[in-house]
Amino acid sequence: MDTKITLAIIAAVGIAALSFTATSSYAAGNGAELASKNGCMACHAIDKKVLGPAYKEVAKKYKGNADAVAMLSKKIKDGSTGVWGPIPMPANGPKVSDADIKILAEWVLATN
Ligand code: HEC
Repeated sequence: MDTKITLAIIAAVGIAALSFTATSSYAAGNGAELASKNGCMACHAIDKKVLGPAYKEVAKKYKGNADAVAMLSKKIKDGSTGVWGPIPMPANGPKVSDADIKILAEWVLATN
């Protein structure tokens, strides 16, 4: 009987610890997941240039820019051209929702 209760308590604490870890890494994990789910990683990588710039370079370029999330959200949604080279980025909205785009912009800016 006692052993069962002890085991139940250990299990409950374990589950609480697991869900805490999942919650605290939610934003970053979700950004990475959204980026692969929405095909961003076909043209981007975190630390090297593919067709588009490395996300780390993007994060570095806009570091300290208070408007960066709004500005990049608009670029991700409507497309971008002429910032990183001659290859344009096609629009990703409305296929990707505004809410997901904001998470993606924040995630990109946090890769640095
Ligand atoms: C077809 C290839 C392609 C896809 C798919 C793509 N990108 Fe891009 N991305 C580019 C290119 C090329 C650029 C550089 C555009 C430029 O020079 O203005 C770019 C630029 C960017 C920038 C920087 C914009 C700036 O103004 O500095 C961000 C942020 C970005 N992409 C995020 C994303 C996200 C998030 C997704 C997925 C929803 C995505 N990209 C999908 C090719 C792509």
